[in-house]
Amino acid sequence: MLDQSNILIDVHVHTDPDRVKQEIRNGLLSSPKKLPTKYFYDDRGSALFEQICELPEYYPARTEFQLLKNTADDVVAQTGADTLVELGSGAATKTRVLFDAMSRAKQLRLYVPFDVSEGIVRRVAQELVEEYQGLQVHGIVGDFLAHLEHIPEGGKRLVAFLGGTIGNLGPEEALAFLSSIYEEMGHGDFFLLGVQLTTDVNRLEAAYNDSAGITETFNKNILSVLQSVIGAEFDLDAFEHIARFNHEQHRIEIYLRSRRDQAIPIPELDLHLRLHEGEEILTEISTKYTRPQVETLLTGAGFSPVEWYTDPDHLHGLALAKKR
Ligand code: SAH
Ligand code: AVI
Repeated sequence: MLDQSNILIDVHVHTDPDRVKQEIRNGLLSSPKKLPTKYFYDDRGSALFEQICELPEYYPARTEFQLLKNTADDVVAQTGADTLVELGSGAATKTRVLFDAMSRAKQLRLYVPFDVSEGIVRRVAQELVEEYQGLQVHGIVGDFLAHLEHIPEGGKRLVAFLGGTIGNLGPEEALAFLSSIYEEMGHGDFFLLGVQLTTDVNRLEAAYNDSAGITETFNKNILSVLQSVIGAEFDLDAFEHIARFNHEQHRIEIYLRSRRDQAIPIPELDLHLRLHEGEEILTEISTKYTRPQVETLLTGAGFSPVEWYTDPDHLHGLALAKKR
């Protein structure tokens, strides 16, 4: 039940410490070494991502914002949605554009922000009930790869997954994830997917190598998060931020490269992590798509594509799809 403040928050993370240890351990023992991207996002990581969205080099955020401004009324008219479920909702900056359109259509009822970062779900819930009269917020703090079944049922739902966060999943993971979203949706529900499109490599690499060094700080924040989650003590100065385009996989890859040989004891994982000078830990992939690839992904997961929106420079796409 929603309380008098119109806010309900369910927390599904922090419930399984063994799983957390296992996924970090598996990543550090794989070759090449990698870390699950979701560990970027504690309160500090979420705040750093908000700063990234303001950077001149990071064009995807403002491009998607403008694209939504141009299309939100059409999305709301086509879907008739009164409930917005948003996966990886973060600061919900662009969400407000959809809310404004839903308000204009007099059909804004419930918002379900779903994010692994607890602080930001709580903050956004509070902000939005203050900004939008009568709005109810049922937040889910969870891993969208594990906890989708906790999304509340009911209403005419639009499920949104914006920002290009789908690109942070590998190809098989992305298809499996979209299939599990499809399974959770009811007939008549719609899905809005934001994707970053393939473009000039220099522009892409600049977006992840900003001159203010915010992306570097964001990347290194994953090591600070590991310190608080599993007590691993990393020397942040012993790592260099690397972001480069992988032409075969059409994706930016972000790494932390060890500046020297180092050994880091991690008793909680029963692991003595050894890194040699120049060795890289993969912390994030950010895949760039083409429209046909997006449509193949959506239909492969069971969806019927309904509409495709893009900006004049074809930097970003918004695909609207429907449960068959
Ligand atoms: N949608 C927002 C935020 C994108 S940043 C925008 O477009 O600006 C990616 C968001 O996804 C972050 O808020 C992060 O906390 C969340 N996230 C990343 N991995 C997640 C996971 N496995 N489960 C739930 N949320 C996740
Ligand atoms: C959240 N996600 C879509 C961002 C991206 O562009 O892949 C995360 C990010 N990492 C570094 N800069 C932005």
